[in-house]
Amino acid sequence: MILIRGGTVVNHDHSWRADVLVDGGKTVAFGPALDAPAGTEVIDAGGCYVMPGGIDPHTHLELAFMGSVSADDFEWGTKGALAGGTTMVVDFCIPDPGQSMLAAYQDWRRKSEKAACDYGFHMAVTSWSKQVFDEMEIVVKTYGINTFKHFMAYKGALMVNDDELYNSFARCAHLGALPLVHAENGDVVARMQESLLESGMTGPEGHAHSRPPLVEGEATNRAIMIADMTGSPVYIVHTSCREAHEAIARARANGQRVFGEPLIQHLLLDADEYQNKSWDHAARRVMSPPFRDKRHQESLWAGLQSGSLQVVATDHCAFTTEQKRLGLEDFRKIPNGTGGLEDRMPLLWTAGVNSGRLTKEEFVAVTSANIARILNIYPRKGRLAIGSDADIVVWDPSANKTIHAKNQISRIDYNVFEGFACVGAPVVTLSGGRIAFAKGELRAEQGDGKYVERPPFSPIHVANSTWKQATAPKAVSRAGITP
Ligand code: URP
Ligand code: ZN
Ligand code: ZN
Ligand code: ZN
Repeated sequence: MILIRGGTVVNHDHSWRADVLVDGGKTVAFGPALDAPAGTEVIDAGGCYVMPGGIDPHTHLELAFMGSVSADDFEWGTKGALAGGTTMVVDFCIPDPGQSMLAAYQDWRRKSEKAACDYGFHMAVTSWSKQVFDEMEIVVKTYGINTFKHFMAYKGALMVNDDELYNSFARCAHLGALPLVHAENGDVVARMQESLLESGMTGPEGHAHSRPPLVEGEATNRAIMIADMTGSPVYIVHTSCREAHEAIARARANGQRVFGEPLIQHLLLDADEYQNKSWDHAARRVMSPPFRDKRHQESLWAGLQSGSLQVVATDHCAFTTEQKRLGLEDFRKIPNGTGGLEDRMPLLWTAGVNSGRLTKEEFVAVTSANIARILNIYPRKGRLAIGSDADIVVWDPSANKTIHAKNQISRIDYNVFEGFACVGAPVVTLSGGRIAFAKGELRAEQGDGKYVERPPFSPIHVANSTWKQATAPKAVSRAGITP
């Protein structure tokens, strides 16, 4: 047993002073002054907040992508996560177009055996066929995956077209699953990339110029409207700009079930990074969508404050400088992706809570509780409650941590947040009731994590489909004349 003594328990809706007792991987008791049964390990949480461990619903660990394989695998990605207070990741299982989802799932199960914290998968729909239609049911009912990812970008590789989106969203609605969308207009991006290269712009700034906010705003609107026409809710990943946020906020104001996920990178880093005279500096920051001007950052923060955006993720997809140099002569060949798993929580606390933009309860909402509900694993995850998984972070709001690549767990040789000074960091992370990280020391081992199955038909899905059925077009019954 483990007793966390003297802290303030923080859930998304309420905080109170309580000790927390953990046994057998679950949280079993709360109280103002709990006894420690013999043999109990006691963690002093005086002056600390005791919060649900973070959930990062957007990672790409050991992903074969753009001619490379992302450098952080399930072992190092999840170890970094635990050191930063995140206790569950959801990675994208991405079949090659035409590859069976069942085969891709087996690949991901094999790669993820090394995970040090709990994990789940989203399944990507990268083409459309009778086989995909059939396999989606197996993915939901047998593998416990209730989310399907769609790329509107990466033309010629992972991109799907509007008819494929429509088919897949409708299938999701039927299966009780939630479609996720990478919303950028891939056709327009491909055209703009060609024009920029023809004009002589070959460096990483070309990546950003070929993917302006309008490319994302247009695709976000399109995805949301197609989802509505199929009767499905929809979740937009890595929402990076005002135009995309406005599309989400507008749809929500109209009663649509739409969710938006800004990344910690887009909240804190801006487009000036691509103007850096160092090619390596700029290329290390190449990701899709690219970093934006400050006015977009303000919009994303406002979305988190007002509730029109619900989740802060990382899209952790880390490539070394050497891997980035695959695109030295052509920005289209720079592997897209950045890291962030170890840093998301301390950075968001520093820039969000310490600045007064977010309350500590809102911090819990956007780092764990909201996504646990969206993924239908709440309150097992995302809440400190009796019977919930003991995935717990003891958070010291006065701890100082300056981010340096030389100290990080990630296997890459730089950090896009190099030099950021964080105030607020985990002192202890519990994962499945065990101490995974304590006072700067990582104790979790590869293989400690468990695969988490997620049932379909979340309450959001049930409400949405009930409403959609009630308001669906109905045939008019006409008496008297028979055709
Ligand atoms: O640039 C990014 N975001 N790389 C990872 C793949 C994706 O689009 O999420
Ligand atoms: Zn993406
Ligand atoms: Zn991604
Ligand atoms: Zn440094």
